[in-house]
Amino acid sequence: MVATRRGVERVLLAGAHLKGRASGWPPGDSMAELAQLARSAGAEVVGSVSQRIDRPTHTYLGKGKLDELRRRASDVGAHTIVCDDELTPTQQRNLENALDGLKVIDRTGLILDVFGRRAQTREGRLQVELAQHEYLLPRLAGQWSHLERLGGGIGTRGPGETQIETDRRLVRQRIQRLKKSLDGVRRHRGLYRDRRRVAQMPVVSLVGYTNAGKSTLLNRLTGAGVTAREQLFSTLDPVTRKITLPSGREALLTDTVGFIQKLPPTVVAAFRATLEEVQEADALLHVVDITHRNAPEQVDSVYHILDQLGLASKPQAMVLNKVDRLPVADGEVTPDDLSGTANLPSVSVIVSALTGHGIENLTARIEELLEPAPGALGGAA
Ligand code: GTP
Repeated sequence: MVATRRGVERVLLAGAHLKGRASGWPPGDSMAELAQLARSAGAEVVGSVSQRIDRPTHTYLGKGKLDELRRRASDVGAHTIVCDDELTPTQQRNLENALDGLKVIDRTGLILDVFGRRAQTREGRLQVELAQHEYLLPRLAGQWSHLERLGGGIGTRGPGETQIETDRRLVRQRIQRLKKSLDGVRRHRGLYRDRRRVAQMPVVSLVGYTNAGKSTLLNRLTGAGVTAREQLFSTLDPVTRKITLPSGREALLTDTVGFIQKLPPTVVAAFRATLEEVQEADALLHVVDITHRNAPEQVDSVYHILDQLGLASKPQAMVLNKVDRLPVADGEVTPDDLSGTANLPSVSVIVSALTGHGIENLTARIEELLEPAPGALGGAA
C-alpha cells in the first residue's frame, strides 16, 4: 500500500491526540512508533504534524492544522499522509478532499500493509487478506481499482444494483470464502491440538508487544531457527516447538503475532486462528522489552488485548527481556534495578534472550506455572 513502484514513498505523519485521555501513549511516542511502522512498510518519513484536540473532527485534524499539513506536504514533497489513528471512512474522504487528492492512510491501513509484507504461510496470508477486506468494506466508495482483483465483471452485477452495492457484495463474498478457508485451517489445528492433548503436552504461549523478543526467546529456549529481526511483526504465523523443563517434563512453546497499541477489533478478530493457539494455552509468558521507553504503555496495550480476547485470567508470568542492554554496576540485574518502572508486576523473570541470562530461572518459572492447579490446566498432566 505504501511503497510505490517508482521508488520510495515519501510520507508525512499526522497525529490528532485527544486531550484529557485518561490513559494511553504520550503523543510523541505514539508518533515515533507510527514512523517505525511506516518505515517497516518501506516508506521514507519526511516529517510529522501533530496536534492536541478536544474532540474528534470530521477531518481528523482541526482546520488550522489541516492548512499547515497541506503546506508541509507540498514543501517536503510528500506523496502520502499517514494518520496515527483509525479514521472513519468519512474522515478519510474529507481529508483526501481537503488535501487536494493526496493519498491518506490510517494506522490500521498501515498495520495491515506491514502484516501483508510479513505473512508467509497460507494461514498468515488468509488472515491478512480477511482483515484487509473487513477494513475495506465500509471504505469502498471511490475505491474502484480494488475490485479488479475481486473478480467483478460482466455477469457479476445483479439487477438494479448500483456499482457500490455490487462492490460490497463482491467483498462480502470474498470475506465469506476467506472465513471458510480459515475454518479449514482451524479444523486442522483442532485435530493437531487433540493429538497434543492425548500426548498430555501442556502448551505455553509467548505473547507480547511487537519486537519484544518473543522469537528470540523461543529460539533460546528451544534451539528453533525462527527469524528474529529488528522489525515490527516479523512473526505473523504461529510457530510451535517442544521444550524440556528442568524436571524432564516436556511442554510445547508457541510464538504468536506481536501486539501493538490501537489494534482494532476487526484485525484482532481476523487473527483468531493464530490467537486460538493462545486461547488453548495452559499458560502465557508475557514478554516485555524492558529497555523500551514505553515498556509500561506496551504492557498496558498487551493487557488490553488479552482482555479483549478473554485471556486476562490465564496463568501467566511476565518476562522482562533485553536486560543485557541495561547499564548495571555488577553485571547482574535485580528486580530493584527495575523498581522505578511503573505497571510491572512484582512477580516477573528477568532475562536476556540474546545472551541467555536468566533462562534457567525462566524454565523453573514455566514449570511452576504448569503445576496442576485446580481447574487451571484444562486436563493437561
Ligand atoms: P514480532 O515478530 O514483531 O512480534 O517480534 P518478536 O517479539 O518476536 O521479537 P524478535 O525476537 O524478532 O526480536 C526483535 C529484536 O530484538 C531483534 O532485533 C532481536 O535480535 C532483538 N532482541 C531480542 N531479544 C533480545 C535481548 O535479549 N537483547 C537484545 N539486546 N536484543 C534482543
